[in-house]
Amino acid sequence: MKRVIIGSAFGDCGKGIWSFRWSQNSDYIIRTSAGNNCGHTIYSDEKKFVYHYVPSADFRSTQVKAVLGSGMVIHPENLLAEIELLEKDFPGCAKQIIIDPYVFLVTSEHIERDKQKNQHLGTTGKGIGPAFTDKIGRCSKRLIDVWEDVDYLKTVGQLRHLGVTFKAAYELLPVLQSPSCKVLFEGAQGVFLDPDVGTYPYVTSAPCTLTSLGTSGYIGLISQLSQVVGICKSYTTRVGTGPFWTELSGELAEKLQKDGKELGATTGRLRRVGWLDLPALKYSCQMSGITHLAMTKLDILNGWDSFQVCVDYQKPIHGIKDFDNNTPVYQTFPGWKNAQDKEENLMKFLKFVEQDVGRKLIAFSYGPGERDVVYL
Ligand code: IMP
Ligand code: MG
Repeated sequence: MKRVIIGSAFGDCGKGIWSFRWSQNSDYIIRTSAGNNCGHTIYSDEKKFVYHYVPSADFRSTQVKAVLGSGMVIHPENLLAEIELLEKDFPGCAKQIIIDPYVFLVTSEHIERDKQKNQHLGTTGKGIGPAFTDKIGRCSKRLIDVWEDVDYLKTVGQLRHLGVTFKAAYELLPVLQSPSCKVLFEGAQGVFLDPDVGTYPYVTSAPCTLTSLGTSGYIGLISQLSQVVGICKSYTTRVGTGPFWTELSGELAEKLQKDGKELGATTGRLRRVGWLDLPALKYSCQMSGITHLAMTKLDILNGWDSFQVCVDYQKPIHGIKDFDNNTPVYQTFPGWKNAQDKEENLMKFLKFVEQDVGRKLIAFSYGPGERDVVYL
């Protein structure tokens, strides 16, 4: 099986736990985009694991290799620090990590420039925009261009010493192409933060859709994919500036923020919250290549009498700008308080989403733990 995980909205949808879970049964888990602007927090067996650069592999499985693809941008020292921390949780895991030497660099100057110039976009301040700007502007450097320079030699040496290996997509592809090789691609952020199909200019600088397979050199595997799974939350969140069509404020918003623990894993910012937006989900499935859905955080709606979902907009949607200056049309759904409600109302809600969006829902989660998952 070859599968891709994509965030269907503004990121922070709980992709990490699905990568973690599905990595247990994969030969390779590959991150294809972005940098340490991502943050995945995983709770497993009462432990908490935080990933930024490294794909959310469950390194207790010694079979899985975690690849940092060339579509990413990395600051080698920060990456080393992250791997050293992961080594504390999973001794020896560095030996399972592979870095593509064609990955582009983030420098301290990029980080400085991001902090100075991109505040108005609410970026994470990790240098992502400037790093990708310089990549496209053809004035950047890839790891392979500098790894013998004095500035990088020590860090690269430390990474190698820990057991990290360096392999380009071209070298990995013959192994990955084998039909029996189980590959999981972990996308970054979410479709509405994609620079091409998202809420430009309030987006990140790297692809958040299936496109990122191409920027990491893995486009050739596209015909072998069995599932492109869009992860969506039972409600919506956004960090940073930009349109948010079903945003809530006041008590309801505070309740969702509190119950859903909606604090950014990377920046510690409180996330904006709102209702699930099905026309937006339909857009993101169409525009990103999502073929299947998995829904997270259904436990957060536990105990509610009812909740709302945007099912339409007053004016037609022909493209992303039509969501702006438009009015969402909401439908009220009964909540669930006991096992029977859960069986009836929760399942009816999930069926509704599936039929409305036209994508099969393969699973949902009802808690942050690995065991809180139901496969449909
Ligand atoms: P940048 O990726 O740091 O340039 O930030 C651009 C926009 O994307 C900002 O609104 C960030 O808050 C948002 N963003 C970047 N990474 C993530 C993420 O992992 N989750 C959610 N939002 C993100
Ligand atoms: Mg996140």
